Amino acid sequence: MLNVNETLYLEPQSQIYKGTYQATVTNIADSTFSITMPFEKGKVILLSVGTMLKIPLPEKNISFISEIVQRSFVPVPTLVLTLPAQLADKKAAKKAKFISVTSGKGGVGKTSFTINLGIALSRLGYKTFIIDADLGTANVDVLLNLHAKYNINHIINREKDILDIIIEGPGGINLVPGGSGLQNLAELDEWQFNRLINSFQTLEDYADIILIDTGAGLSKNVTNFILDSDEVIVVTTPEPHAITDAYAIIKVMDEQDNTLRPKLVLNRVESPEEAKKVSDKMITVTERFLTIRLESLGYILDDSNVLKAIKRMRPFILAEPSCPAAQCIKNIALKLVRPEETPQIEVRKNFLHRMKELFHR
Ligand SMILES: Nc1ncnc2c1ncn2[C@@H]1O[C@H](COP(=O)(O)OP(=O)(O)OP(=O)(O)O)[C@@H](O)[C@H]1O
Ligand SMILES: [Mg+2]
Repeated sequence: MLNVNETLYLEPQSQIYKGTYQATVTNIADSTFSITMPFEKGKVILLSVGTMLKIPLPEKNISFISEIVQRSFVPVPTLVLTLPAQLADKKAAKKAKFISVTSGKGGVGKTSFTINLGIALSRLGYKTFIIDADLGTANVDVLLNLHAKYNINHIINREKDILDIIIEGPGGINLVPGGSGLQNLAELDEWQFNRLINSFQTLEDYADIILIDTGAGLSKNVTNFILDSDEVIVVTTPEPHAITDAYAIIKVMDEQDNTLRPKLVLNRVESPEEAKKVSDKMITVTERFLTIRLESLGYILDDSNVLKAIKRMRPFILAEPSCPAAQCIKNIALKLVRPEETPQIEVRKNFLHRMKELFHR
């Protein structure tokens, strides 16, 4: 998408340099690119490392935000900038998969699902990171009894790099803690949000799968996370309110990018039959009224072990590895990474049920 020798117009987020400056692309690497340092009236514009730049590409009808990560003056004054993933050469294989976990309604079990799915994926041999991006009420570290010293807010405020704030969680997961109650994701400005996204991209070198607990609802930044990720998982319970809200968030996705293929997880179901009934219905309604295609990723049974484990601050998949909810999570993890190995579980309706249906036709 970017070419060597291309002319770019830089708009720095800087108190001193407020204009638009011209520069030329000199080199493009996997996750960075270099430009000539801009000049004005014969003087070099001394933009410092850490400065964010907005760079419009009018011909491509987009603009992107990049951060200066290095400056050098020999042989010629050069700046090295982060290369956003959407501009990276497709050949530079994407190293990690970003999966957003979201829901319409709060309290449906996203965080508990994300933590336990992360551990299941890590057990399957995938290096898994969890980003607690539910900045309003971030609590993954608390649920895991980890005491995070630094969190996402330190990235936003430029006090720490993402690699400095990661902590090791149980079962082989790595956690990027969110800062509880400090700054709402929805309130971040464009610069802060892009700074966060750029720092998340750094994780690509270390992770196979990055799960993002986005929090519930339809704020602009949550939608942006969803649109930026490789996959989206929508969690809902079979409760009517939760379904209506899940449908609303799917509708927003449809309006933004109807090529997305969100995956549905039904949590707290009584039986596989209930899960199938509800997810079939949601898939049918989506097919009928929207362009986006919804897929079922599985279900998690309502299980008292979940709350018991939360109270003990242990993920249920570690505290009770063979409990019904843990089995369900393992199935979901397998289906997510090796769909070919998980045959669709056919729910056989019992004889009486089928007869009843016959008579109701
Ligand atoms: N499969 C399950 N069986 C029984 N209880 C469950 C199950 N999944 C979640 N819960 C219960 O739901 C509660 C909320 O879960 P969790 O905090 O993961 O939801 P959330 O969607 O992340 O909430 P929020 O929107 O507030 O972030 C948990 O405390 C737990 O008691
Ligand atoms: Mg949560």
